[in-house]
Amino acid sequence: LLEHTQPGVLAGVNIVISAGPTREPLDPVRYITNRSSGKMGYALAAAALSSGANVTLVSGPVSLPVPAGAKLIPVETALQMYDAVITHSRTADIYIGAAAVADYRPQQLAERKIKKGDDTSNIPLAKNPDIITAVANLQPKPLVVGFAAETDDLENYAKHKLQSKNLDLIAANWVGQTEGGFESDRNALQVFWPGGQQILPMTDKNTLAAQLLKLIAEKLHEKNP
Ligand code: CTP
Ligand code: CA
Repeated sequence: LLEHTQPGVLAGVNIVISAGPTREPLDPVRYITNRSSGKMGYALAAAALSSGANVTLVSGPVSLPVPAGAKLIPVETALQMYDAVITHSRTADIYIGAAAVADYRPQQLAERKIKKGDDTSNIPLAKNPDIITAVANLQPKPLVVGFAAETDDLENYAKHKLQSKNLDLIAANWVGQTEGGFESDRNALQVFWPGGQQILPMTDKNTLAAQLLKLIAEKLHEKNP
């Protein structure tokens, strides 16, 4: 990690990082969620802190220690994450959307536990707002970095998300077939930005976070020379 960390390179820079899954309640004892350990987002927070940044970590429920010095905003649902991220991104230089946001939430939260005998053939879902797109529409717009976990056609999906969400950088990884991804301590990333790309080969998530952060710092310095 040390060989990639650049102390002071992000001194005084305000970074908001979302991490982990969101949890969308169905009844008092059940929820819908996404697979996410939060490891990548927390590793990015640690790397950003080592580079001198002020880090706000908006985190869904994960079981990871909070990197020392990070300001933790714990959330559960996508709507809570949306509010916290937008509030803190208004004064941010960089937003990194590493969270695995649930795309849908149950339309209704049942007051009582749904019972085995109840008719559950239909559970209506409502679409959650796209948090990163909302951040990219803020004025002034921070540097916006997204993630994309894909099972197929990674390059096309990642480039499409880069453009449609108005991102400055997107880090894509394969899931569901090879090493890396969700619960793993290791990962590889294919990073795209308008007009360029770079592969960050399979390594541990701490090294990868430092490498990605270096790219992000370069983009910030290109944006604000
Ligand atoms: N994202 C977000 N808010 C959402 C959904 C996704 O901010 N409601 C962000 C993620 O944090 C990530 C990026 O968008 O940085 C891409 O997430 P992904 O799930 O891959 O994209 P979707 O647009 O939801 O597309 P799909 O799930 O259909 O592939
Ligand atoms: Ca999604």
